[in-house]
Amino acid sequence: MNATVWKEKLSAVRDSFSVSIAQKPAVNPEELELRFLGRKGELALLLRDLKDIPLEERKPLGALGNAAKTEMEARLAGLKGAAGLSGPVVKADLDLTLPGVPFPKGSLHPLTHTMNRLTEAFLKLGFTMADGPLVEDDYHNFEALNFPPYHPARDMQDTFYVDLKDAAGKELLLRTHTSNTQIRAMENQDPPIRVFHPGRVFRNEAVDASHSFTFHQIEGLYIDAGVSMADLKWTVDTFMKDLFGTAVKTRFNPSYFPFVEPGAEVDMSCVFCKAGGDRCPVCKGTGWLEMMGAGMVHPNVLKACKYDPAKWSGFAFGAGIERFAMLLYGISDMRMLYENDLRVLKQVH
Ligand code: DAH
Repeated sequence: MNATVWKEKLSAVRDSFSVSIAQKPAVNPEELELRFLGRKGELALLLRDLKDIPLEERKPLGALGNAAKTEMEARLAGLKGAAGLSGPVVKADLDLTLPGVPFPKGSLHPLTHTMNRLTEAFLKLGFTMADGPLVEDDYHNFEALNFPPYHPARDMQDTFYVDLKDAAGKELLLRTHTSNTQIRAMENQDPPIRVFHPGRVFRNEAVDASHSFTFHQIEGLYIDAGVSMADLKWTVDTFMKDLFGTAVKTRFNPSYFPFVEPGAEVDMSCVFCKAGGDRCPVCKGTGWLEMMGAGMVHPNVLKACKYDPAKWSGFAFGAGIERFAMLLYGISDMRMLYENDLRVLKQVH
């Protein structure tokens, strides 16, 4: 036998040992020991053959053979040790000291979190949750809210229409605001009424850092006898303080929305720069952040819902939920809320 053939044989013995020791169910280690390392075992016989090989080549081959022997002994010892630990399961080469397989846990999306926080705040103030459809008719999204057909105020909300018609033959649309739920709530129940509704809305708008074709709003409506602007201011102020801390201030600026009179835009003191530092990128140095629209429900809206404006009055407000999420979590670009990038989501749950 020459050195090359001997090496091939050694490698065949090692392969055969590896296959045998990896067998499932596990083989008996004593049997393997006898077959490969015993006095008449495969490796022992091979080592004996070394005597036929010229002396100068024998030495490195002997070293190879011994290395194979040591390795086999170690693996057999491992198998015996494992067998001693706990029967057949462990015998199958199971290493109990390996770390476990990671099991990533999901979490709520920052928008869902924000909606939950807004919801809690309104439940505390005695509001109940109302609902309304996303695919809406022109009447509930516009007309009953005092946007007559062709009224220029409709231009404030560029709309997606769908290929379906309502009973009056008008195209249905994706609601442009949650204010439709004001009408739906008043149609469904008699006053007094105190409801809120968080949900998705749609606008035909180009996407940028602060606009999207779909976003979320929260709407509030309170109708009772003798509700005044003071009730609106107290409610909004209390709600803002609940979310952002008692240090924040709110202020009202006159504004126009067809379904309220008077109408207002509500600002909150900037929660980032606090004192209106002139380089604050969030409030742009004004010290104030525009947070929502609000006002006293217009008599035409009450009439459309068969509420007598001489008897009942109320307030309404509507706010973008993304704005709240961005301020609560310090997110600077609204698109981050929709990209589902785990690097962002893991930071803001
Ligand atoms: N629906 C308005 C919008 O999307 C926001 C709004 C303004 C809602 C005033 C209200 C309100 O309830 O009273 O622009």
